[in-house]
Amino acid sequence: MVDDAKASVRSQFARQAAWYTVSAVHRRSAGLNALLRLAAPGPADRAVDVATGTGFTAFALAPHCARVLAVDMTPGMLEEARKLRKARGLGNVAFCLGDAESLPLRSASADLVTCRHAAHHFPHLPAALAEMARIVRTGGRVVLDDTCAPEDRVLAALMDDWERRRDPSHVASYPPTRLREMFERCGLGVTDVVVTHVALRFNDWVRRAGVRAEQQASLRAALVGASPAARAAFRIRLEDDGDVSFGWDEIVILGVKR
Ligand SMILES: C[S@@+](CC[C@H](N)C(=O)[O-])C[C@H]1O[C@@H](n2cnc3c(N)ncnc32)[C@H](O)[C@@H]1O
Repeated sequence: MVDDAKASVRSQFARQAAWYTVSAVHRRSAGLNALLRLAAPGPADRAVDVATGTGFTAFALAPHCARVLAVDMTPGMLEEARKLRKARGLGNVAFCLGDAESLPLRSASADLVTCRHAAHHFPHLPAALAEMARIVRTGGRVVLDDTCAPEDRVLAALMDDWERRRDPSHVASYPPTRLREMFERCGLGVTDVVVTHVALRFNDWVRRAGVRAEQQASLRAALVGASPAARAAFRIRLEDDGDVSFGWDEIVILGVKR
């Protein structure tokens, strides 16, 4: 089951690697600005960016840190990231193939650990957070940035179902209270949380994930035909141009290692 989930991640991102390189959504976002603010990178910091993808978070940290080690388990994403690093002339970013749930790094070897837009793919997020907590030194920071689910279980399950129908490598999004609990259980004291709303357009959302036409139709019907409570929670609206607008929250959470 866990191996299947990881194989699904590799195949999904191997197909999308070149596209990610030019994706404005992943290069810039309110979440990335909040992550940088909460991470507060400093000139002596040894940073590790977990599930770096094509490296956007690592590149945003690099000018402010001593060095950044960027880890991902999809070789194609790292190849794209290496090309981008060269184009940007960033000499203090290194890449390493590795799994978030068993990081190939020494304990207490980092001052700062970041992980953006990836936790919902991890089969066992508590294991990945425990690894992030292990590699950061006492007093160091772990900053996680990801979509988050509503606190209501029914709405959260609906969101996961839609996400999985769009991208089979989605595992789960968690509500803020669950994420806080997971941090605290790993010895990461939560000191700051920022939640922002992410507004999405259905056509763009499914195109980015390469969803086939017939699946697009049934997914669109599921959103438009959702319960009034779900339509309100996810701000689902049929637009004049025929597209569907909707959205959910993104959370950035800062934990300090005790
Ligand atoms: C949306 S991309 C990452 C975006 C990137 N962090 C950024 O800020 O632009 C998600 C990445 O998570 C990686 N990933 C998913 N599960 C992983 C795991 N268990 N270990 C390492 N990387 C993983 C995928 O290979 C993919 O490159």
